Amino acid sequence: MLSPARLAGVIGTPAPAVASALPSGPAVPAEALVDLQAIRHNVATLRARAEGAELMAVVKADAYGHGLLPCARAAREGVASWLGMALLAEVLAPRAGGDTGRLLSWLHVPGEDFAAAVRADIDLSASAIWAVDEIAAAAAEQGTTARLHLKVDTGLSRGGATAAQWHDLVRAALAAQAEGTLTVVGLWSHLAWADAPEHPTVRRQQEVFERAVADAELLGVRPQVRHLANSAATLTNPASHYDLVRPGLAVYGLSPVPDLHDPEALGLRPAMSLRARLSLVKQVPAGSGVAYGHEYVTQRDTVLGLVPLGYADGIPRAAGNAGPVLVAGRVHPVAGRVSMDQIVVDLGGDEAAHVARAGDPVVLFGDAALGEPTAQQWAQAASTISYDIVARIGGRVTRRYVGAELGVELGTELGAELGTEPGAEPGAQVHQ
Ligand SMILES: Cc1ncc(COP(=O)(O)O)c(C=O)c1O
Repeated sequence: MLSPARLAGVIGTPAPAVASALPSGPAVPAEALVDLQAIRHNVATLRARAEGAELMAVVKADAYGHGLLPCARAAREGVASWLGMALLAEVLAPRAGGDTGRLLSWLHVPGEDFAAAVRADIDLSASAIWAVDEIAAAAAEQGTTARLHLKVDTGLSRGGATAAQWHDLVRAALAAQAEGTLTVVGLWSHLAWADAPEHPTVRRQQEVFERAVADAELLGVRPQVRHLANSAATLTNPASHYDLVRPGLAVYGLSPVPDLHDPEALGLRPAMSLRARLSLVKQVPAGSGVAYGHEYVTQRDTVLGLVPLGYADGIPRAAGNAGPVLVAGRVHPVAGRVSMDQIVVDLGGDEAAHVARAGDPVVLFGDAALGEPTAQQWAQAASTISYDIVARIGGRVTRRYVGAELGVELGTELGAELGTEPGAEPGAQVHQ
């Protein structure tokens, strides 16, 4: 829940003119407006923080809810030389969409269609010998050589081979390499406590990682890239950068270390803002119970606004009576429980509330610099993390993209580098 003190920080915040950001044409009940220029900017910022390393933008889970293909493209323009995704099903999409750069997929089960991945020239990861065997067999069948990243578990106890399994995994991969079916190009791991840079586990995991790399090299691996750092480590821990960093959350402009720094202090710009239009506005008397279970009761004669977004759209049910909603320049917490399709906001009993009308724009989260509530505030309201807030936005919410053309900041130089004329692309695209 958002504490009263925290709510005080967001209620009454002056608002931007959100109406101007809404599109003309038929209204949609709600949309996630995604600023691709912010994604380019964030990738460029992260690259500057990890000088000397390559950057893999993590665009799994539909680019953390922002939409895979437009975000993948913006990340490339930012410039991300790699894109990373968990599943084979997701990593094949950018390739099919025309992406020709390096793509890595790391989460598989036995029997998956590795041949399709090898045909699509995807880098693959193995944490176990079954994966080495299946990937090598797929490459042999295709008459080609797969590129493999070996993952070591350095202390997260999730993916990766344990220290006890590491030598056997490396030897199995080297045997396949000797047969020409794969090349070990990467050695990698993932951190458990990157968001607490001073936590002793971070240092310990780096030591375990370096030992595993040294052992693999002794056995004959010549890795092109060693990689460990997620967003938090990219931004706070240069010693973890090695040859390649793998930020996800920060690409979308959210802080991976919200207790330490807000996005602005990290030079990041939130890419997504979640907006809607009021579908109903009505006056009710004091003492009216609001929404299922009447967990909110109006304290005075007041005006209620109905927002057509609910838990089926990814609004966390746990944010009932807490999640901040910006309406006409004022931030109000959700009144009562979050329903499947809608939430209610108590707009108050004053004159300003009485001018509210159905169709008025509201903002659930966006950019604090514009006076909008943030995904981080919603995360606090729902006792979760901002990753969960953006990644869960559902398929009924239209994604609308702005900043598709290469923008001012990166425009001239990057446009020249990419051979792309600024403004050559459509300014906004919609997909659902
Ligand atoms: C293996 C791996 N690398 C990198 C990332 C990016 O992490 P973050 O979003 O914290 O930057 C993730 C996301 O969870 C991941 O699973």
